[in-house]
Amino acid sequence: MKKIILAYSGGLDTSVAVRWLKEKGFNVICYMADVGQGQNFSIAIKRAKKTGASKVIVGDLKKEFVNDFVWPSLKANAVYESKYFLATALSRPVIAKALVNAAHAEKADFVAHGCTGKGNDQVRFEVSIAALDPKIKVIAPVREWDLPTRESEIRYAKVHNIAIDVTKKKPYSIDRNVWGVSIESGKLEDPWFEPTEDAYQITLPVEKSPAKGAYLEIYFKHGIPKKINGKAYDGFKLIEKLNSIGGKHSIGRSDLIEDRLVGIKSREIYEAPAAFILFEAHKALEGLTLDREMLYFKELVSLKYARLIYDGLWFTPLKQAIDRFVDYTQRNVQGTVKIKLLKGNAFVVGRKSPCSAYKKELATYSKGDKFDQSLAKGFIELFGLPYRKKL
Ligand code: ARG
Repeated sequence: MKKIILAYSGGLDTSVAVRWLKEKGFNVICYMADVGQGQNFSIAIKRAKKTGASKVIVGDLKKEFVNDFVWPSLKANAVYESKYFLATALSRPVIAKALVNAAHAEKADFVAHGCTGKGNDQVRFEVSIAALDPKIKVIAPVREWDLPTRESEIRYAKVHNIAIDVTKKKPYSIDRNVWGVSIESGKLEDPWFEPTEDAYQITLPVEKSPAKGAYLEIYFKHGIPKKINGKAYDGFKLIEKLNSIGGKHSIGRSDLIEDRLVGIKSREIYEAPAAFILFEAHKALEGLTLDREMLYFKELVSLKYARLIYDGLWFTPLKQAIDRFVDYTQRNVQGTVKIKLLKGNAFVVGRKSPCSAYKKELATYSKGDKFDQSLAKGFIELFGLPYRKKL
């Protein structure tokens, strides 16, 4: 029997996929990735086996996800279309890598995923898998089967006795990991519809956030956050902690009409409290420690890097080359940023660094000024020379 590794979530699509693939003659091994979505795996494991999986593997990818995927995106300040910190997009390559490893370990020639033919995730999975092992054949049941609606899938599940949550129709499609939550479909498909509170998973509405702000001091080394208020955390815990504090202060919500790779505009809302706080803090520290031209060039690189992540081009030479550049820029991005969380905002209110490029003796308007103002006259003369009007 042909073996296939199915990226399994426990939801309707992938549950139906287990059965559908079995009917196509596959020995189905389900792979569940833990990227910090806070899921109860034991229920899903039982369900997968009951539906016909011969084996269920749970991979703990939390550490790898944070260290090798989230931190590089933070160091690069990668944001898509100004508002999306790429939580879902970043999780795809780490899961793809784990699927390929599982296929090798199980001697399977096939991998399957539950993505639709309209989204970005199918691209991210398939491009990543092909970059890692082009011999693996990918099957996308949702793209192939003749079950065009959710209702038809539920009917299929009932006929084949597949356990699913039919309690009530889920109002939204939600993808979650430690770096953020992506929420789409249902009523959100009307771009004019204001999201109701039931859509949000990890943030309070601003009306319910405390009137008194909270201060945080975040310490970075080589562009990576290491401590909060003087206490060291491992990466995953640090993000969890900022999500919980930030969520209470209603930080990191965004509402975006975004441009998918397949040419569709779609409406998605996001929650990413930790990402929002860390981006603000990281950029503030870069402002203190990097020079002007570096900051400028890094902004250009950020745009491209975000797009590479969004487009599923993680395992590519350009992405690797940019990583080398970004790592070089982060040598001196070390120090502490003081940030105030209040009513949906993360205000940077202070920063300090042993590698600071700020020179008080040049900036000051008070005693101790070492800036020679007499030099400014000649500088301006030459700087403006090309634009001088002919007399
Ligand atoms: N639009 C986001 C992306 O392409 C998230 C996709 C998954 N969203 C979801 N709610 N299931 O990266």
